[in-house]
Amino acid sequence: MRGEHTPVKEMKVSGVGKLTLEKVSEVVEYVEDLALFNPEELAERAEIELDKAVALVRAARKLVKAKLGIRRAYKGSEYARILESRDALTSGVETIDELLGGGMFIWDIYEFAGEFGTGKTQLCHQLAVTVQLPPALGGLAGKAVYIDTEGTFSPQRVEAVAGRVEVAKPLENIYVVRPMNVDELEETVIEDLPSLLRDNARLIVVDSIIALYRAEFKGREMLAARQQRINYLLDWLKRYARHYNAVVAITNQVLSQPVPWGVAMKIPAGGNIIAHASTHRLVMRRAGDVWVVEVFDSPTIPRGAAARFVITEKGLEKA
Ligand SMILES: Nc1ncnc2c1ncn2[C@@H]1O[C@H](COP(=O)(O)OP(=O)(O)OP(=O)(O)O)[C@@H](O)[C@H]1O
Ligand SMILES: [Mg+2]
Repeated sequence: MRGEHTPVKEMKVSGVGKLTLEKVSEVVEYVEDLALFNPEELAERAEIELDKAVALVRAARKLVKAKLGIRRAYKGSEYARILESRDALTSGVETIDELLGGGMFIWDIYEFAGEFGTGKTQLCHQLAVTVQLPPALGGLAGKAVYIDTEGTFSPQRVEAVAGRVEVAKPLENIYVVRPMNVDELEETVIEDLPSLLRDNARLIVVDSIIALYRAEFKGREMLAARQQRINYLLDWLKRYARHYNAVVAITNQVLSQPVPWGVAMKIPAGGNIIAHASTHRLVMRRAGDVWVVEVFDSPTIPRGAAARFVITEKGLEKA
């Protein structure tokens, strides 16, 4: 949600005092962003009592819904119209846009999984550039937030893509975030992203979603905790996507899944959690001289549908 904002400090909610509002302000500055919190996580992060957190979040949500004219329920036909009229972002590759039904739609989470060298990071760079294009050229005339958990963000690759699709000064419109551990990642996402999104960021990239969690939550006994934390982060990304009309792109690793008749199949890692959170799951692979992106799971595209592309000095292009 962009435009005018109301500071949390100016809220008037019965039973909630100034001290509480100040504590909350340190975590979330504006009422518009407060509306995205669950009361439990607000209570925990701001160190306030749960009943006060409930009252604050409810008040914030009421204000935001009224402001945006959002209702709690829509008729199916109305909802269909809303979904159809969403903005879409070009991948910069015609064949991939076609596969995705016209590009990458705001509110959706796109997961790109694949082995090393399959183009995940190259694609993320490209999207951080195409998002800057004007709508007439398939962009969202917006900025990108690039969360680089693996340290592979490359200004040169951004410039190279920008030269091809004709975006001037692309690095001025990309916020790069380089969290070193899960705690920092969560902190960035919860506390820093709102101001970047308000500054017209329309794309959130997380390359990769799994690396930090794998490094930190080791062994089987940590698996449940790891899944819960990944879920927590993805849930935030989902709320932002909806609230700020943004596209979310995450990358993931693949696992070999043995199948009874022999040939191991590559499936996205991260179990049920990432599977549920991603709207569209795509698997990328190399096939000789070209690369392939294949639909693994999507509510709108048949499984197995695929597009071919190549990676050149100038980024991803049609094969
Ligand atoms: N400047 C370039 N010119 C041509 N091709 C390039 C260039 N830079 C990278 N590539 C191609 O992109 C591939 C790397 O893709 P990318 O970095 O996106 O892999 P990835 O899927 O992110 O892998 P990982 O899992 O290791 O992060 C290289 O193997 C190479 O073929
Ligand atoms: Mg990579």
